Amino acid sequence: MSGSQSAKDFFRPLAVGAPMPLTDIPARPSRAIHFFDPSNPKMAAKIPDMVGTVDVLLGNLEDAVKADNKVAAREGLVEIAKKTDFGPTQLWTRINSLDSPWVLDDLTTLVPAIGDKLDVIMVPKVQGAEDIHYVDRLLAQLEAKAGLDRPILIHAILETARGVANVEEICGASPRMQGLSLGPADLAADRRMKTTRVGGGHPGYLVRQDPPREGGVANLEAQRATYQQDLWHYTIARMVDACAMHGIYAYYGPFGDIADVVACEDQFRNAFLLGCVGTWSLHPKQIAIANRVFSPSVEDVAHARRVAAAMGDGTGAVMLDGKMEDDASLKQCLVMVELAEQLAA
Ligand code: GLV
Ligand code: MG
Repeated sequence: MSGSQSAKDFFRPLAVGAPMPLTDIPARPSRAIHFFDPSNPKMAAKIPDMVGTVDVLLGNLEDAVKADNKVAAREGLVEIAKKTDFGPTQLWTRINSLDSPWVLDDLTTLVPAIGDKLDVIMVPKVQGAEDIHYVDRLLAQLEAKAGLDRPILIHAILETARGVANVEEICGASPRMQGLSLGPADLAADRRMKTTRVGGGHPGYLVRQDPPREGGVANLEAQRATYQQDLWHYTIARMVDACAMHGIYAYYGPFGDIADVVACEDQFRNAFLLGCVGTWSLHPKQIAIANRVFSPSVEDVAHARRVAAAMGDGTGAVMLDGKMEDDASLKQCLVMVELAEQLAA
């Protein structure tokens, strides 16, 4: 988008009725975005029972769905969406990538058929603002044709080196932008990282404590503690900054080792602490982990409320439990309180 053109100027919904301004759409919790394959009848049958147990149900049409099943997945999603009352749970979909032969049919089928139920469309392998502009304009045309009065939002997956380099312009490319997720598997391949897994850490990516020195000489034989590092810290931090700058939400992404619930929880918690609001769930047991991790603890919220009460008009400094609190610590506390209120609403 050119410097003189604001995101608002770019968004010109085709006039049919009065589309709701995006700023009026209330923020809704999305701690876990639970992926399901709509072409899998066993998985599809479980969806109605999952309503209300998870913030977001996402019908996946992209990777992990076999090429032969693309049409069945799209049709399956339409069928599930039509017959399910999603109540408080949001319905999202991940469409095929923009360089695939399936994506045009994904959009032209889903928007007229279930556009009134779809909250967010996740776009994979986004490279730059141009990809978001394309989806934005196509959605505006399809929404107008279908007579929809609620815009469908866009969520981009950050999973190419070029996408990471363009992360700020992606976040600001349309007022439809709801958020971004990290796509560690595709990103690792695109960057030529030497991993073979879906998200999470790697035992080889570590730092070692300096060896003890005896008489000025390093004792290389002595046992040295090692610490595994977070492969994704840089990208998550960059994504969080770009999202915060544009007032949209950052998410971790997939954690493929379903059995390793401890490492999964650690990865999710790191993302939460860095500023992410949620993550993906690839298995029902990851929903509980995400819901726990991405909700502020009762103790943290109680402390945050105490700081807010002690800070009165919000200026100056107070001592609480031996710690200095001021305007900036109050702002952090209000983030926690706001999130707790949003989740309780
Ligand atoms: C998700 O799509 C990923 O590539 O990690
Ligand atoms: Mg991917």
